[in-house]
Amino acid sequence: MRIILLGAPGAGKGTQAQFLMSKYGIPQISTGDMLRAAIKEGSELGLAAKKIMDAGQLVSDDLIIGLVKERVAKADCANGFLLDGFPRTIPQADAMKDAGIDVDHVIEFDVPDDVIVERMSGRRVHPASGRVYHLVYNPPKVAGQDDETGEELVIRADDVEATVRKRLAIYHEQTELLVGYYRKAAEQGQTHYHHLDGTQAVDAVSQHLVKLLG
Ligand code: AP5
Repeated sequence: MRIILLGAPGAGKGTQAQFLMSKYGIPQISTGDMLRAAIKEGSELGLAAKKIMDAGQLVSDDLIIGLVKERVAKADCANGFLLDGFPRTIPQADAMKDAGIDVDHVIEFDVPDDVIVERMSGRRVHPASGRVYHLVYNPPKVAGQDDETGEELVIRADDVEATVRKRLAIYHEQTELLVGYYRKAAEQGQTHYHHLDGTQAVDAVSQHLVKLLG
């Protein structure tokens, strides 16, 4: 099963990707996590991406498209994958189509901006695994520690409110265009499009996803 998780920053894509990975046994491809790993390594890509990400802007299409094409060609993607945070622009979606990378389901997470700003202020992450927590809505078993490894949880550099609002503006300007793009693709029988109320509790969203995906 090949799935795109589409939605604003903080809409819950990463949280549900963790659930779907274990439920369906397919890998999560998070372009944000890939870029953060490159930053941690101190690679040329990471150095170039850091300033852009910290400012809440989008990394260039060419760079991201290259990363994703390379990733989906790996053996663990043979039975499917979850794209989390990609595509984010029309050129990225077109590049995927041109490369013959089809998807079975596109899931739009719909969450109002004010809810997102509140969620981001309480988000804590475990960088090595991509596991995501929230101080109130999805707290770790032990405060400040990842449930599986006990390692320290961190606040993402781009989770300050001004940067979150910038990311939301970019989402509405550029990424939201993909709603129409994939609705049209679904009308033409190229994929299935699902709209999901992302304001429900984490478990309710997971159950809704299972109903949609079967
Ligand atoms: P990326 O890492 O992809 O960030 P994002 O899309 O902005 O999404 P987030 O990871 O912030 O949110 P999410 O939807 O996964 O929400 P989460 O589950 O964590 O990208 C970062 C940057 O990298 C970009 O700004 C850009 O610079 C660059 N980049 C990445 N991809 C790119 C691309 N394709 N092209 C160009 N540039 C790219 O949940 C958020 C919080 O809410 C958590 O605390 C969670 O516990 C909580 N929560 C989740 N669900 C619920 C719920 N149902 N109820 C209550 N709380 C909930």
